[in-house]
Amino acid sequence: MLKIGQIEIKDFPLLLAPMEDITEPSFRYLCKKFGADIMYTEFIASEALIRNVEKSYKKLSILDYERPVGIQLYGHQIDAMVEAAKIAAEAKPDIIDLNFGCPVKKIATRGAGAGMLRDIPKMIEMAKQIVKAVDIPVTVKTRLGWDSDSIVIEEVAQRLQDAGIQALTIHGRTRAQLYKGEADWTLIGKIKNNPSIKIPVIGNGDVNSPEKAKEMFQKYNVDAIMIGRASIGHPHIFSEIKHFLKTNEKLPELSVSQKVELAKEHLLQSLKWKGSPRGIYEMRRHYTLYFKSLPNFKEFKLKLVTSENIDEICDTLENIKKNYSDF
Ligand SMILES: Cc1cc2nc3c(=O)[nH]c(=O)nc-3n(C[C@H](O)[C@H](O)[C@H](O)COP(=O)(O)O)c2cc1C
Repeated sequence: MLKIGQIEIKDFPLLLAPMEDITEPSFRYLCKKFGADIMYTEFIASEALIRNVEKSYKKLSILDYERPVGIQLYGHQIDAMVEAAKIAAEAKPDIIDLNFGCPVKKIATRGAGAGMLRDIPKMIEMAKQIVKAVDIPVTVKTRLGWDSDSIVIEEVAQRLQDAGIQALTIHGRTRAQLYKGEADWTLIGKIKNNPSIKIPVIGNGDVNSPEKAKEMFQKYNVDAIMIGRASIGHPHIFSEIKHFLKTNEKLPELSVSQKVELAKEHLLQSLKWKGSPRGIYEMRRHYTLYFKSLPNFKEFKLKLVTSENIDEICDTLENIKKNYSDF
């Protein structure tokens, strides 16, 4: 069982990873529907939150059916992060998650995200002060270290636990790896099986199938698995994994017709949340992933990513259904 504060999740907990421009409410709606146990907002810049930047502020919105949900924050200034955590807590999330893993150059080289892995005393002080400042569980998501010469996750896990962090998500890569190569779960497993680490350890990196999820739970004994990229265009991965773990049988793949319905639902949620045309524009990045295995899809794709009109988009989706009725 995964226990973070009052949150208790039984039987192979699966978490939706925070992903910028992806895990906004319309995508979270679908992931929740398919069984994601805990979800996170996109990361939010602490400085922007303090300055009341509207776009960042909007990311704090949480709907009740989404719970439990975490708001993720990043930044390199302790004071700003503490202030941002207080603001985020007012939005009443179930968790505040601190991003100590983002590899993006302009974030990490300024000392935020994975940059925090290069200043562990500051990371610990930041965590301590935020834990003290809010009355909900504070968790951390990070990587193994800055690069292969500075793998610090074992020390970091112990010290974050001592600082009052209530769960630790580890992406099995270094900052230098970005998203390249294969995630290395061996250290994640080592930390999970270290008797002095009592907080839940959530494994993350490259889980993209029911079989892989089963293997990671069995091999590394993690308290939960967090899934990112494999859920994009495939939010039903959560139910596929859950079904496989329960029954050892795989659910049939969704037909194209079912995928069309999924994409439509996503689009409608996107419109509901962001209105037109933003809801239409922001949906564009998802279509190719919903239909990624289809041959000769170019023309449909072009229509989906250029059309500004909701009826036209729905017509194209219906035509996809007809054209690929055998798939
Ligand atoms: C498009 C995209 C956006 C991401 N944004 C965030 C983010 O806002 N916060 C964060 O902690 N990680 C972010 N990540 C990293 C993911 O949460 C996750 O750690 C990483 O993708 C590895 O997991 P996966 O192999 O299951 O995708 C992002 C990843 C992608 C692909």
